[in-house]
Amino acid sequence: MEQQLSLILLHSPRSVNNEEPLLARVPPTKHHYNRTFFKFFLYFVLIGLSYYFIISSFFVPPPLSLISLDSPSGNVSSKNCDLFVGDWVPDPTGPRYTNLSCNHIQDFQNCLFNGRPDENYLFWRWKPRNCDLPKFEPSQFLDSLRNKWLAFIGDSIARNHVQSLICILSQVEKVEEIYHDKEHRSKIWRFPAYNFTLSVVWAPFLIKSDTSSSSGIQLYLDQLDHKWTDQYSNFDYVVISGGKWFLKSTIFHENDKITGCHYCQGRYTDLGYTYSYRKAINQFHNFIQNSPHKPLVLFRTTTPDHFENGEWNTGGYCNRTMPFKQGEGKMKTEDELMHDIELEMLRKHGSGSNIRLLDTTAMSFLRPDGHPGPYRNPHPFVGVKDKKKVQRDCLHWCLPGPIDSWNDVMIETILNRNGKAEI
Ligand SMILES: *[C@@H]1O[C@H](CO)[C@@H](O)[C@H](O)[C@H]1NC(C)=O
Ligand SMILES: *[C@@H]1O[C@H](CO)[C@@H](O)[C@H](O)[C@H]1NC(C)=O
Ligand SMILES: *[C@@H]1O[C@H](CO)[C@@H](O)[C@H](O)[C@H]1NC(C)=O
Ligand SMILES: *[C@@H]1O[C@H](CO)[C@@H](O)[C@H](O)[C@H]1NC(C)=O
Repeated sequence: MEQQLSLILLHSPRSVNNEEPLLARVPPTKHHYNRTFFKFFLYFVLIGLSYYFIISSFFVPPPLSLISLDSPSGNVSSKNCDLFVGDWVPDPTGPRYTNLSCNHIQDFQNCLFNGRPDENYLFWRWKPRNCDLPKFEPSQFLDSLRNKWLAFIGDSIARNHVQSLICILSQVEKVEEIYHDKEHRSKIWRFPAYNFTLSVVWAPFLIKSDTSSSSGIQLYLDQLDHKWTDQYSNFDYVVISGGKWFLKSTIFHENDKITGCHYCQGRYTDLGYTYSYRKAINQFHNFIQNSPHKPLVLFRTTTPDHFENGEWNTGGYCNRTMPFKQGEGKMKTEDELMHDIELEMLRKHGSGSNIRLLDTTAMSFLRPDGHPGPYRNPHPFVGVKDKKKVQRDCLHWCLPGPIDSWNDVMIETILNRNGKAEI
C-alpha cells in the first residue's frame, strides 16, 4: 500500500521515540551541536521527512474575480471576493467521505480510524468574508477537467492534499493508480470515465537537492529539480508548494561552489533558510515565466504547524478541539517569514501571468484542531505509561479534515480561470 510507504519513510510506526523527526524544525540555537543527533537527523531527512509541509497563505492575494459555482444558497459569489480571508463556520453536513468510503487515506492521517475521540473538527466549512464558497461538486469538477491533467508538486503536505482530493472525487468515480515510483512518493492516477489525470510529484525543495551526502543535504540554488520540470509540459494545472524542508540543515551550492548553508554548525557562512527559500522561489518563478508551456500554476503557500509548548521533538502537542477565533493564537515566525517570501516573490508577477496564489496559510492557521496529534498511530495511548512521550504530528492534517477545504478554494480558482482563458 502506498500509504505505508510514506509512513515508514518518515518514521516507523512502531518506534515512537522522540528522535524521529516528525518535523524538521531546527532550533534557532547553533550551540550544543551534537554529532549523534546530527547523523540521526540526516538519516531521517534522507529517508523521509519528505512528507511534511506545506501550504497556506495569508494576506490579500491578487484579487480573483470569481464566478461562483452554483451555490446551494443561490448566493452567487461577488466579483473581487478574496477567497482567502474568511472564517470557519459550523457545517452540520460534515465531511464528504469517511474512513470507510475512501481507502486512499494515509494511515498516519486516518485520525478516526486511529482512535481520535472528538469529531467536532469535522463539522466546519470555510466561508470567505465577502462571498459564499460552496463545497465543490465532484462530478461537475471532473466534467470541467475532462481530458486534463492536474499535478501536485511538493512534499508530504502536497501528498496530504492530493489524498484529500482523491477521497472527495472517488465518491463519484473509482480512481485507478497507473504509476508509482519506487518509494511511492510520486504517483499518477486516472479517472477513466473523464480521462482526468492526477499526479503527485515528490520535490520537497522544488530545486535540485542531494540528500544522500553524509555531510548534510546539498541544495543547488541555481538548478531546479528535474523531477518536476521534466514533466511540466504534460500538465494543464499545477499546484506547487515549498516550505518546511528549507528549515533543515542544508548546504548551499551556486555556480558549482559552496556559498553558504543553513544551520550547519559553523562549517560555512550561515545564510539562513530565508536565503535558500527565496532563491528557490525565484528559480521556480523564472522557469514558469520562461516556459512556452502555460498551464495554470497555483502556488500553495506555506502550511502552519500547531505544536504548542514544544516542537515535534520536545514534547509539543496540539490537543485543541475547536478552530481559533479571529485574533486567537499566534503564527510561528518561520511560517510568517516563509509566507512573506512567497508573497513577495509571487506578487511581483501581477496580472497576465499564469501563476496564482493559493493562499491557504491564514485559513489553515485557524485550524489547530485539524492535526492528527497523537492519533498518527492507532490507539497511541494503549499500554503507555508516560503519555507525554507519545509522538505528536501537529503539521499534517487529518483526513477527513480542514485540508478538504483547500480543494474548495483550489477548484474555485481553477474553474474561475477556466471560464476566462484557454489553457
Ligand atoms: C471509521 O471512523 C469511525 C468513527 O467515525 C470509527 O468508529 C471506525 O472505527 C472507523 N472505521 C474504520 C474502518 O476506519
Ligand atoms: C450573499 O452572501 C453575502 C455574504 O455572506 C451576503 O452579505 C449577501 O447579503 C448575500 N446576498 C444574497 C442575495 O443573499
Ligand atoms: C486523455 O487526456 C489526455 C491529456 O491528459 C489526452 O492527451 C488524450 O488525448 C485524452 N484521450 C482521449 C481519448 O480523449
Ligand atoms: C491539552 O493538554 C494540556 C497539557 O497536557 C492540558 O493542560 C490541556 O487541558 C489539554 N487541553 C484539552 C482541550 O484537552
